[in-house]
Amino acid sequence: MEGSKTHSSESMPGDLSEALKEATKEVHEQAESTEFMKNFQRGQVSLQEFKMVMASLYYIYSALEEEIERNKDHPAYIPVYFPAELHRTTALQEDLEYFYGPLWREEISCPESTQKYVNRLHYVGQHEPELLVAHAYTRYLGDLSGGQVLKKIAQKALHLPSTGEGLEFFTFEGVSNATKFKQLYRSRMNSIEMDPATKKRVLEEAKRAFLLNVQVFEELQRFVSQSHENGHPAQQKPELRTR
Ligand code: HEM
Repeated sequence: MEGSKTHSSESMPGDLSEALKEATKEVHEQAESTEFMKNFQRGQVSLQEFKMVMASLYYIYSALEEEIERNKDHPAYIPVYFPAELHRTTALQEDLEYFYGPLWREEISCPESTQKYVNRLHYVGQHEPELLVAHAYTRYLGDLSGGQVLKKIAQKALHLPSTGEGLEFFTFEGVSNATKFKQLYRSRMNSIEMDPATKKRVLEEAKRAFLLNVQVFEELQRFVSQSHENGHPAQQKPELRTR
């Protein structure tokens, strides 16, 4: 049952893509139902909150894509290496410049939970590269799925221009059909040679990746709630360090 099915775009039971979807079902529900994400889905997101998420995503994708580049020739990553179609760092840089202005690098800071996620990405990329696919799956397939709904919500809630400025992150220029691309991505994941023990570790890592995302949202939510309690909206430069 561990065999790969490179000849078919249909995933089979036992394939990595199916196993990942199944293994992360519960944590996906957890991620969707965080306070931050629930509010976001209701269109309850302020510009300041959105700017904070985008800054966190910038740190996360910079780390993820730095590690992907390091491992682009690793047999456990080659099949899912799609920089032109998927990589988001440049898009996020453009969005941050749109929201924060030309000095955006000096305006943003990396919250603690985001730093924890970044540290894990570097650790995996440098010490356990066979697990990197779990992180790429968690972010990129998510962005190509629910991310498209979130784009429309943000555009409406924040009155962003229909030209897509500020939302480059959600716009995959190199992917004309997200459903087809996801199928291709799944079949490429399924073509990675993997023994059962490694597969198990990849599934665990994907769950961990989801939980790291949940913690990023929870920390942002704590900051938002605190600033509401203090009677003022979220500040541009969050001081999220707790100690
Ligand atoms: C898939 C919605 C948050 C990761 C999906 C799908 C939807 C969705 C509709 C497509 C399901 C399908 O095609 O079968 C949402 C919504 C979210 C959210 C509304 C938040 C409000 C997240 C987060 C992550 C994530 C935070 C991880 C960081 C994924 C992944 C998939 C996915 C990896 C692909 C599953 C697979 O086909 O294997 N999401 N999602 N999602 N989402 Fe989310």
